[in-house]
This record gives sequence, structure tokens and C-alpha cells, in this order.
Amino acid sequence: EAGDADKGAKVFRKCMACHAIGENAKNKVGPELNGVVGRKMGSIEGFSYSDTLKEHNAKGDVWTAEVLNSYLENPKGFMPGVKMVFAGLPKESDRVNIIAYLSSFNAD
Ligand code: HEM
Repeated sequence: EAGDADKGAKVFRKCMACHAIGENAKNKVGPELNGVVGRKMGSIEGFSYSDTLKEHNAKGDVWTAEVLNSYLENPKGFMPGVKMVFAGLPKESDRVNIIAYLSSFNAD
């Protein structure tokens, strides 16, 4: 089902202490998230990733919408070793909407 990017923008408030997105977005506690849907894992230059994300990067793994959905439900459960301190988004609708919001910043 199609997500609602406007609703996703509200959910993204939970991420904003650590992540920026949009024009001039900078790395904060977490990496900037422009183009993250379809982006190679652990690929932002100058961000100090965990070994876990460095290993995914080396394997060429990509943040597809499907993988993001699983990750955001339970970050450390889905990806042990990741250093993102966030409990996750238990509601499927929140995850689908936030992925629609994140996708709205993709270049195409
Ligand atoms: C990494 C999304 C909340 C801190 C990531 C990545 C994504 C993501 C997609 C991987 C990026 C990449 O590979 O370049 C989100 C979303 C959030 C959220 C959508 C809200 C729903 C948070 C919060 C914090 C945080 C609240 C800080 C308390 C981090 C850190 C990393 C990261 C430190 C790097 C992890 C590592 O190197 O293992 N986040 N995040 N995130 N995030 Fe978040």
C-alpha cells in the first residue's frame, strides 16, 4: 500500500534529534538521509559507522524500502551491532508513511 509522505513527515520528528534530510542536510549523531531509499548501506563519506554497517557496505547491501521497513521496526533486533539508539516504529503504517517521506527526497 502507498504511504502518505505528509504523515511520514510527522513520524520523522522522532528521528530529527539524530538525522537531517533535505537541502543542506548535514550528518548529526546519525548520517544525513537524502536518497536513503535505494542507497548503499554505510556509504556517507565522513560519517563514522559501526563495524556492522561497514560490513554491509563492503558487501554492497542496499537500503531498499523492504529492508528499511524491517530495520525501522526493530533496529538492533534486525541488525545486531548497529549503533542507532532507537526503539523502533512498531506500527506498520508509521513505517510505510516514513518510507514514503524519505523517498520524497530522492533525486528522481
Ligand atoms: C543509521 C534511519 C532514528 C542514530 C541510520 C540509517 C538509517 C536510519 C536508514 C542507516 C543509514 C546509512 O546506512 O547511511 C532512521 C530513522 C529514524 C532514526 C528513519 C527514525 C524513525 C535515529 C535516532 C538516532 C539515530 C533517534 C539517535 C538516537 C543513528 C546512528 C546511525 C543511524 C548513530 C549509524 C548507525 C551505525 O553506524 O551503526 N538511521 N534513524 N537514528 N542512525 Fe538512525
